[in-house]
Amino acid sequence: MNEQGATVTKKYWNTFYKQNVNLPKSSFCSKVQETLTSESFVVDIGCGSARDTFAFASGGIDAIGIDGSEEAINLNKSKAKELHLPSEVSFVTLDLCKSSDLKSLFEELKIQGLEKRKHFVLYLRFLLHAVDDKTEKTLLDTISDVFPQGTRFAAEFRTKEDEQLNKIYDNHYRRFVDTDRFIPDLESKGFEINSFFKGTGLSIYKGEDPFLARVFATKR
Ligand SMILES: C[S@@+](CC[C@H](N)C(=O)[O-])C[C@H]1O[C@@H](n2cnc3c(N)ncnc32)[C@H](O)[C@@H]1O
Repeated sequence: MNEQGATVTKKYWNTFYKQNVNLPKSSFCSKVQETLTSESFVVDIGCGSARDTFAFASGGIDAIGIDGSEEAINLNKSKAKELHLPSEVSFVTLDLCKSSDLKSLFEELKIQGLEKRKHFVLYLRFLLHAVDDKTEKTLLDTISDVFPQGTRFAAEFRTKEDEQLNKIYDNHYRRFVDTDRFIPDLESKGFEINSFFKGTGLSIYKGEDPFLARVFATKR
């Protein structure tokens, strides 16, 4: 994606979140919640309206939501003040393609997490198909450089098998991820795959049943 494409995408998401999107937690969030303990610290990368970040925090899990849309992050910050959550939740606006900003934030989180003896869970729902190859690479390289051994990775995203299926199309950037490329890539960044599944029936919304992958991995 060139600079112009990135600006258009950012504008799309800011307009989208202005409508004050209020969705229940995702089915992927429920799946991940089953694996968490009170020591978990969820880093929700591309959190959007924070439907899942708030669900983690409501369940007593510390969480941070990161997104490039300042509109979404400002709304999330206001909502967090209104809700009396049993755990710490915070939000940061950050463009994931800015590798030095990303690295600084991750380093800061690593220090906080180690001080509080937390176990990181990097959570990426519907994020990987919303960014381009270059941003995916920057993100995975930075994750690999910074986060400690034992860090867990949980991602749900559209795969190339989804490209031909019917969609509610609203003309925003979408990339269909080739899992034959993605899985070895993640392994090459020091992650061991714990489980990998792809198919339909995972996240049906407004009659659309996307072909998705779910990947769980742990940093070696
Ligand atoms: C499909 S939404 C997913 C939101 C949320 N995870 C969910 O499941 O509802 C994709 C999100 O990625 C964010 N995003 C896209 N490109 C980004 C970038 N370069 N940096 C940061 N966030 C980005 C968008 O702002 C949007 O909130």
